[in-house]
Amino acid sequence: MSTLPLSATPPVAAVPKIAIRDVFKRFDGAPVNALENINLDICDNEFVTFVGASGCGKSTLLRTIGGLEVQTSGELLVDGEAVTGPGIDRAMVFQHYSLYPWMTVCENIKFCRRLAAHTQDRSSADVEAAEGRADALLRLMGLEPVANAWPNQLSGGMQQRVAIARALMGRPGIVLMDEPFGALDAQTREVMHDLIRYVHKLEKSTIVFVTHDVEEALYLGGRVVLMAPRPGRIDTIYDVPFGDQRTQDLKHAPEFVRLKRDILERIRETSGMKTDLEQLQRMTGAAV
Ligand SMILES: Nc1ncnc2c1ncn2[C@@H]1O[C@H](COP(=O)(O)OP(=O)(O)OP(=O)(O)O)[C@@H](O)[C@H]1O
Ligand SMILES: [Mg+2]
Repeated sequence: MSTLPLSATPPVAAVPKIAIRDVFKRFDGAPVNALENINLDICDNEFVTFVGASGCGKSTLLRTIGGLEVQTSGELLVDGEAVTGPGIDRAMVFQHYSLYPWMTVCENIKFCRRLAAHTQDRSSADVEAAEGRADALLRLMGLEPVANAWPNQLSGGMQQRVAIARALMGRPGIVLMDEPFGALDAQTREVMHDLIRYVHKLEKSTIVFVTHDVEEALYLGGRVVLMAPRPGRIDTIYDVPFGDQRTQDLKHAPEFVRLKRDILERIRETSGMKTDLEQLQRMTGAAV
């Protein structure tokens, strides 16, 4: 019989930041599961990206983590606690900026905090701390020159910076992003990539990021989760082997290009696109 030395403490299993266990989701009347048998642990401070064909359940999974959808079965835990609805520990950023048009940039960023100050018995020190954080976020996101501008006076990239600053205002442990840069032009998107990586390093939040852009997923993520549709499921998880120091040049490195090609090919295989094309060819009797 083996015994532990007296001084030894049993290893403590780290609680994942997000634990997704056997999660299924079927929308009412839907013929297939939007999510089927999803199992994934996401660690604290990870940056995980999700890619996959349209309809494979990326947004549904993100919204379920955010507490905006409820799974049909299975468990979804944040810091070991079951998710029962939205919470200030999880901020969401969507493709469309959803800023309040009647508030300036600065007011948009402070808005949620101000709401909290009204609804919970906050002291003036709390409000002052919030003011300081808003100023720091304005600086961090390069928004100081437009702090008093209205959202409709800003470019799309600037509006999305405001949306991200607003999401970060409450120091959420988790930031959930659903194609946040999908509407931006390629150059602005590159700038946003480096900005969000910097923010991730600085704020040490856990980021779950959904995108259609495989290059974006590879450049940002420590892991890329590829989902497949009908039913929505996890197909492959890629560990991204490029470390923490990344610059735009990485996108031209042979290893990056190879991985990007592999992922794109796998998305094509899982999407049924080839089958659709074949069907179209049969219907029209011509090459498409
Ligand atoms: N509210 C809803 N009611 C019914 N079905 C829904 C609802 N939301 C999503 N679905 C279905 O669930 C499946 C997954 O949708 P979801 O939006 O999560 O996919 P996605 O991977 O985010 O797609 P995209 O890349 O196009 O954004 C799809 O078949 C979709 O039609
Ligand atoms: Mg989606």
